[in-house]
Amino acid sequence: MNIIEFENKDQLGKEAAALIARTIASKPDAVLGLATGGTPIDTYKELIQLHQAKEKELSFKQTRTVNLDEYAGLHPDHKNSYMTYMKRHLFDHIDLPQDQYFLPNGAASNLEEECLRYDQLIQNVGGIDLQLLGIGQNGHIGFNEPGTSFDSKTHVVQLDENTRQANARYFSSIDEVPTHAITMGIASILSSKKILLLASGKSKAKVIQYLEQTEIHPDFPASALKLHQDVTIFIDREAGSLR
Ligand code: PGA
Repeated sequence: MNIIEFENKDQLGKEAAALIARTIASKPDAVLGLATGGTPIDTYKELIQLHQAKEKELSFKQTRTVNLDEYAGLHPDHKNSYMTYMKRHLFDHIDLPQDQYFLPNGAASNLEEECLRYDQLIQNVGGIDLQLLGIGQNGHIGFNEPGTSFDSKTHVVQLDENTRQANARYFSSIDEVPTHAITMGIASILSSKKILLLASGKSKAKVIQYLEQTEIHPDFPASALKLHQDVTIFIDREAGSLR
């Protein structure tokens, strides 16, 4: 794992967007694995700026994207779905064609079948070239909570109370936060060619310190990243403050 520390979260967002832009420049039809949450918002803002800049150097016309996860039980048009998040923070502002971005469908009538469909879809697009990740305070990646098998592919999960509480800020009350989600598994994430994990702010300092020091163990899902040969971790000074 190659950890790179930046001055602040703005700088981190700029550098993460630059890395994504370089990936697309060298392979315009790259498959990007995308993440939601508070952390990647700066990165998406910067990607939009790079795309809208006069020179229009960054185009997503040939790019395909697959998201890590989606809440179970929310329609894609629901205001709190990750589809809505992705449209608001990225897709509606770039030239990525509508039939080239994919998220699990949390409103599917058969969620188990939906997981199999999503794994097949990832295979059909040729696998993920660059997977963007955040990290939860409990070490989760995607919605792979502590204890998730490293062999897991896309699956339905029950969300940790800790995770529901962390995400309650986006809902009117904790009772509205879904109890389940569909997430790519650890094995799905590890089969990406390259992984970029982002962490910013004081609230991530402990988990970053732990990630660096811990042995590889399913109780701390992010430790699985130590099994991958091309993982870059961008942190800001606050997230690195306990190293
Ligand atoms: P955050 O979420 O970016 O909102 O901190 C990250 C995560 O829980 O994976």
